[in-house]
Amino acid sequence: MPGTLILKFHPGYVPSKVNAAMTAAVEGLDGVETVDMYALYPHEEQLKAAEDAEIERLYQADRLCVQFPIHWFAATPRAMAWQDLVLNRMFFTHKEEGKRLKGLPFFVAATAGQGKDTYRPGGQNLYPLEELLRPWECTANQSHFAYEPPFLAYGADDYDDADRERVAEEFAARIKGWTATKPEAN
Ligand SMILES: Cc1cc2nc3c(=O)[nH]c(=O)nc-3n(C[C@H](O)[C@H](O)[C@H](O)COP(=O)(O)O)c2cc1C
Repeated sequence: MPGTLILKFHPGYVPSKVNAAMTAAVEGLDGVETVDMYALYPHEEQLKAAEDAEIERLYQADRLCVQFPIHWFAATPRAMAWQDLVLNRMFFTHKEEGKRLKGLPFFVAATAGQGKDTYRPGGQNLYPLEELLRPWECTANQSHFAYEPPFLAYGADDYDDADRERVAEEFAARIKGWTATKPEAN
């Protein structure tokens, strides 16, 4: 069974509801592994110490989803630290390591507290969320990953139980469909 790896970066300053529901909806699916990176590495130094293991984890994956809540219009700090440590090594200082991930299918799953209408020209947040997430597309391009459109959930701070369930089901459907596809040979 091909492996879909979901690296979740939720810091839990405020306990997660939406991302937690998304994780619950995909946990236990065949061929899907979710790693709660903040739970695993409460301190950034611990992630640094586990660099080799995190690179090995990527080698085992056929597809990669990076999941986080939007904090200050960007990814959460540990997601950035993961880029700085793991991707920087694989795609800058030890480029031969990164070559093994060429063509890795990749997408970002992000939840935003504010509504979609705020993420537009003239709206409170000025730009579509897709535009604010362009650095991840650049990251994928730099890393020779196969970038796919992000999974985005807006207005997450106003969800009721039914909204959370709907988003969790949509996320699970995307992950299931993705996991069922055969990765292209590198
Ligand atoms: C420190 C912090 C910064 C945040 N910044 C943003 C932001 O820039 N834009 C936005 O739409 N929501 C923002 N939010 C709201 C979160 O994105 C939202 O609460 C989260 O996506 C909901 O998912 P969860 O229930 O899994 O935490 C922020 C929340 C926190 C705690």
